[in-house]
Amino acid sequence: MPKAVVEDIGKFNHHYPKVAVIVTASVQDRMDAMTAAWHSSISFTPPLYGVSMMPSRFTYRLIAESKEFGINFIPFEKASLAARVGGISGQETDKFQRLGIETEKPARTKVPVLKDAYVAYECKLVDSKPYGDHIWIVGEIVAVRYLEEALAGEGILNLERVKPLLYFGSDFYATTDKNSLTFIKKGI
Ligand SMILES: Cc1cc2nc3c(=O)[nH]c(=O)nc-3n(C[C@H](O)[C@H](O)[C@H](O)COP(=O)(O)O)c2cc1C
Repeated sequence: MPKAVVEDIGKFNHHYPKVAVIVTASVQDRMDAMTAAWHSSISFTPPLYGVSMMPSRFTYRLIAESKEFGINFIPFEKASLAARVGGISGQETDKFQRLGIETEKPARTKVPVLKDAYVAYECKLVDSKPYGDHIWIVGEIVAVRYLEEALAGEGILNLERVKPLLYFGSDFYATTDKNSLTFIKKGI
């Protein structure tokens, strides 16, 4: 089968799907939320999590000031929330009010924790560094809130209860087929 090779990279979308999350932050009574697909776990000890953000994001401005951020994992049923939160800037609009986003009390920070999230990480900013047109922000996870039924016995996502939100790029979303879940012991 032929494979294409390009060297003029431009806007690359080949690494999707990725899980889409809602990143939140607040400064005093000003809150904001944005959708992010470019994020990753970094370290277990200490527990570090990173997000790649355009410096123009209003959420980034609140994170830079408050030194805190939240990572909210929402289910596939809330894909339209991800599309809406990721389609307008919070600079002029209070997205929480406009979209009726409900929050829960955070445990260790002042970041908005979404009621719709099946898992939420509260993070304290430890570092941020520009890479190209984005800034890689790194936070230490200081609290994890999760819906108990969202996790199966093995500590993995319970696909009977939660459909993860996968982003395919170009405004396309999907979820996983629970029947595709397979246990394969690592090693040779
Ligand atoms: C599915 C999806 C994924 C996105 N991923 C990112 C991302 O990883 N980093 C980023 O800076 N912006 C990303 N965006 C764009 C922001 O969410 C969008 O610009 C948002 O309106 C910023 O809001 P704010 O200015 O209120 O912070 C994404 C948008 C969508 C819809």
